[in-house]
Amino acid sequence: MEDTAKLIIDGKEILLPVFTGSEGEKAIDIRRLRQETGCITFDPGYGNTGSCKSAITFMNGEQGILRYRGIPIEQLAEHSTFVETAFLLITGKLPSQQELTRTSVYLSDFSPIHENMKSFYRNYPPHSHPMGILAAMLNALRSFYPELVDIDEEGEMAMNTTFLRIISKIRTMASMAYRFSTGKRVIYPRPDLCYCANFLNMMFDSPVVPYRIDDDLVRALNVFWILHADHEQNCSTTAVRVVGSSKVNLYAAISTGISALWGPLHGGANQAVINMLQDIEKKGMTIAQCIAKAKDKKDPFRLMGFGHRVYKTYDPRAKIMKKMCDIVLSKIKRQDPLLEIAQNLEEAALSDNYFKEKNLYPNVDFYSGIVLRAMGIPTAMFPVMFAIGRLPGWIAQWKEDTTDPEMKISRPRQIYIGETQKDYIPIDQR
Ligand code: CMC
Repeated sequence: MEDTAKLIIDGKEILLPVFTGSEGEKAIDIRRLRQETGCITFDPGYGNTGSCKSAITFMNGEQGILRYRGIPIEQLAEHSTFVETAFLLITGKLPSQQELTRTSVYLSDFSPIHENMKSFYRNYPPHSHPMGILAAMLNALRSFYPELVDIDEEGEMAMNTTFLRIISKIRTMASMAYRFSTGKRVIYPRPDLCYCANFLNMMFDSPVVPYRIDDDLVRALNVFWILHADHEQNCSTTAVRVVGSSKVNLYAAISTGISALWGPLHGGANQAVINMLQDIEKKGMTIAQCIAKAKDKKDPFRLMGFGHRVYKTYDPRAKIMKKMCDIVLSKIKRQDPLLEIAQNLEEAALSDNYFKEKNLYPNVDFYSGIVLRAMGIPTAMFPVMFAIGRLPGWIAQWKEDTTDPEMKISRPRQIYIGETQKDYIPIDQR
């Protein structure tokens, strides 16, 4: 028998269906609630709202579990590549060797961007944030590839071509944003390089000192992007789904995701963590002062890279990222003073009652900035790195949303708390 939840409101009793997900998570289906009771639910920030049914990513915040299409993140980080993980997220299955090869060929073929797009980059003011440029460029792609926006007419193959085109071009556009913003000559993609190596080469190659591709750094970048590839209904993914629900084209929906990700409470946190650690170093703050500041409710300061809406234990991605720090730093044979500050901060926070009681643990962004710094990625590019990684997740979630017959245009309700009706007063009588 189907489970039900009983709700009594104003003496009236209604039964609401309860359904269970494949991992035992329960949800009360409130779709009839307003119609039958006149009431709506109130849940600012949607902490208790299931906005969709999804078969892409499973998270258990209490136990620190993250799986893409059922596969634990730890296994993907150890054995997979970013391109293979992207395929898994979007299509729902791991690719065969033939599918993976074909995907790589497409990614390589699609990597150049239209020459006319370069004029956009040239006209941005110097030092513009690359995340703002990237969001605008994604939207601009729609004008350059207008034939590839309508999924209903183009069918499954063309849909995948569009996905591959975006995944390939975002890497070129991101590295170009960096090259232009620093006044460096653009480096074009190379067909002989894999996805991650190509990105590093486009970022750092130069006619004077050719970039030497290091397999360990390429592996580290694969892991970094795998860890960021999806995270179920987070802020930017929700933005992509909400905007996509109006049936706007995919490019515009992804561009919204990039903008949502930019914020310091979300994907901008990796940049904010490094800024915070540098600030601590520069001002000579002690760890105790920092912890006290983070706990002080009158102080807006928060320990960036700590806390998460879903994880109430150590973020499984942060565990892998922390290990990556050691691998990458030992590879480049460099100490990073910020790593020591981060480790001391983590130790102090994890043994502090405030952080313990509120279940605040390091999230993926706490150590990711140190990994990126070690690779030579400039701080302003950190959220861009997150965006490239999250792209397959946004695409998979958008595809699921737009093809789910149960989904409708996103349009929440509100509780109005403004003034009740009153008359307009002409300007000379006010
Ligand atoms: N430092 C100090 N106090 C904190 C922190 C923190 N980093 N995070 C949460 N708290 C406190 C917060 O003040 C609140 O206290 P109280 O209950 O006394 O009012 C309590 O913990 C619950 O916090 P919240 O803001 O209500 O929780 P939330 O689920 O709305 O926010 C969060 C989650 C990630 C936005 C928040 O923890 C935060 O601002 N962290 C720092 C920014 C950050 O690292 N963001 C990256 C998130 S992971 C990457 C991603 O997937 O986006």
